Amino acid sequence: MSIIPAAAHPSFRLCGELRVPGDKSISHRALILGAMAEGRTEITGLQDGEDVLNTLKAMRSLGADIVRGADDTTWCVSGFGAKGATSPAAPLDFGNSGTGVRLVMGMVAGLGVEASFIGDESLSGRPMDRVLKPLSALGVKVNSRDGCLPVTIYGGGPIPAQTTKTSIASAQVKSALLLASLRSKGVTEIIEPALSRDHSERMLRAFGAEVHSEVLADGRHRVRLSGPAHLKATPVIVPADPSSAAFPIAAALCIPGSDITLQGVLMNPTRTGFIDVARRMGGQIDISNIRASGGEEIADIRVRGSVLRGVETTPDIVPSMVDEFPILAVLAAFASGTTMMRGLAELRVKESDRIARTEEMLQGVGVEVKSGEDWLCVEGTGAVWGESANAVPVPVRTDGDHRIAMAAMVLGLASFRRVQVADPGCIATSYPGFCDDMRALGARFQEEAEGALC
Ligand code: S3P
Repeated sequence: MSIIPAAAHPSFRLCGELRVPGDKSISHRALILGAMAEGRTEITGLQDGEDVLNTLKAMRSLGADIVRGADDTTWCVSGFGAKGATSPAAPLDFGNSGTGVRLVMGMVAGLGVEASFIGDESLSGRPMDRVLKPLSALGVKVNSRDGCLPVTIYGGGPIPAQTTKTSIASAQVKSALLLASLRSKGVTEIIEPALSRDHSERMLRAFGAEVHSEVLADGRHRVRLSGPAHLKATPVIVPADPSSAAFPIAAALCIPGSDITLQGVLMNPTRTGFIDVARRMGGQIDISNIRASGGEEIADIRVRGSVLRGVETTPDIVPSMVDEFPILAVLAAFASGTTMMRGLAELRVKESDRIARTEEMLQGVGVEVKSGEDWLCVEGTGAVWGESANAVPVPVRTDGDHRIAMAAMVLGLASFRRVQVADPGCIATSYPGFCDDMRALGARFQEEAEGALC
């Protein structure tokens, strides 16, 4: 496949309405729980990026029957339920997806089947021991290349119900442990240092499992699952993904005169950190039409071009916007004053080293940035920069990271230099229609090989 570089040019105001794709976290979980459940789960609005499609293929390999509905927006999953999963003949390939691979490792551990897990170069370098160690402690037999992929899980009989205390607030780790324990008899308890996104807990309840969660007096979060859980198919409506919405939101905030509305965005409080911080920066963000949908709250979000000021973010907010820091740093570059972001250690082990890639991207267009092991500090320019006559494109290194690529494209819309992404294909990991959606709002994106602005 030939890779056509893409460039973002300084743009005039963005206007219009948009519905970003379905939430990636909820989409993975809908496929996984649908596959484990008894009966036929209808999923509306499934996100169809590469990560989610890899989970879909894995569910088929484990024995679920999954077909696309007639109207193209619906998928039907006939779960293997009590019949049980089958051991896949070939390794399950999760491509770039940390969520897919970690959740399904937990699922397989509890199912009594054997499966091997592989992924692309980025995923093969990411730590899997955060899931493998607690699973081993629960008695699951695992094999890995020094805590990384390839991994093989030898699922045995039901895991005895136990208490696990995790050292990081990671929804992937929490969810893997919950999925591994669905057949356990008795109460499984997971205590995480702070509340991470809670879609697994919510969706497990919707599928009939008994799950209780509470924030403890010391701020830690405890989930209790009473097993064995017998999951029953239930319809899932996937709301628009707030992590994908963060890119058009940031673009509209940075470009004066912009006025856009994003429809049906998930407003789960474990996911709205970016909106909270952008508002603290002075962002004009109006939330309306708040309504319930599929066990979650959704709303429409109106965003207008704004005068932004720098802020400080503390570690406690990180779980609620862990994927949004690269785009927050772009926003910070257009604010006046300093933005200091703390508690970012997890960004080092995402699809790329996001602290390093974000720092390099902003320095490339002349923004002053400093970083440490777990922090990033951006000196805002306080201005929207005009296009320079002899603009030479600034190449941005993404290491195949979709969120760095989208942040770079947004940076280019308001910066004085054309920003160029060599591998925009990685955006399809989570948001295949990103460039088209942004163009529809007025963004000037160009595929370099075509030589003309769209
Ligand atoms: C996700 C959890 C987050 C996030 C990822 C999706 C999930 O990771 O970065 O994109 O769906 O559970 P951690 O749980 O490791 O923080």
